[in-house]
Amino acid sequence: MSNILITGCDSGIGRTFATQYAADGHTVHATYNDAANRIDAAGNFHHHQLDVTDFAQFDRVAKTLDGAPIDILISNAGVGHDTRKLGALDLAYVETMFRINTLGFLKLAETFHENVIASAQKRIAIVSSRMGSMACNLTGGHYGYRASKAALNAMGRSLAVDLAPSGVVVVMLHPGWVDTAGGAGNATVPVADSVSSMRRIIHRIGNHETGQFFNYSGQMLPW
Ligand SMILES: NC(=O)c1ccc[n+]([C@@H]2O[C@H](COP(=O)([O-])OP(=O)(O)OC[C@H]3O[C@@H](n4cnc5c(N)ncnc54)[C@H](OP(=O)(O)O)[C@@H]3O)[C@@H](O)[C@H]2O)c1
Repeated sequence: MSNILITGCDSGIGRTFATQYAADGHTVHATYNDAANRIDAAGNFHHHQLDVTDFAQFDRVAKTLDGAPIDILISNAGVGHDTRKLGALDLAYVETMFRINTLGFLKLAETFHENVIASAQKRIAIVSSRMGSMACNLTGGHYGYRASKAALNAMGRSLAVDLAPSGVVVVMLHPGWVDTAGGAGNATVPVADSVSSMRRIIHRIGNHETGQFFNYSGQMLPW
């Protein structure tokens, strides 16, 4: 059984990762933007308050874990809804997206990479987005979301290189267009299917594949 830490378990993909892993008997450290949203289900849960823009909160969670191994660290917390068009952009919201989607991940990696190195499975999964792929961008717009996820991928790639000598595997994942609050619109992928598919990738990925970017279906995505 694994020890797993997941950010953004308040709703959607993060919450589904947490409930699926716990239902399978794993120990889940579920972190919440607002701990009032804690999961009320049977399972080996540890609940933590963690707004990923508040760096002091990371240090408090790390103190609680006290160096405990983390087999799978999942960076999931993120915001989208970057719909304002050129000429009416909300730059303050773009900045917020970078603080949550990008810097929040970097602080997560900075805080917990030693816990991952100390574990048996040594896996870091980053919930990114195909919107962060520059090669796939044929429709423009979404400046803040695209850029925050592209920068997230750049950080994930560096992390993969830096942690390869320690045997840690880092993978960037596109979850599909998922029927969550973050997905909205005409999402095509049920959240339970997206999460179980991403779990399969996290489970099977080998050290030789570290630093790659995958669709939830398992196909490699271009940068
Ligand atoms: N759904 C899709 O189609 C899709 C596609 C590509 C990528 N993604 C990515 O998937 C991840 C999960 O999104 P989702 O679809 O599950 O949407 P969601 O239901 O809105 O989940 C996003 C989660 O991030 C949390 N969060 C927001 N700001 C935070 C902060 N400052 N600190 C900690 N947690 C924070 C949210 O908490 P609150 O509820 O409290 O705000 C929520 O739990 C995101 O990284 C998103 O970019 C989703």
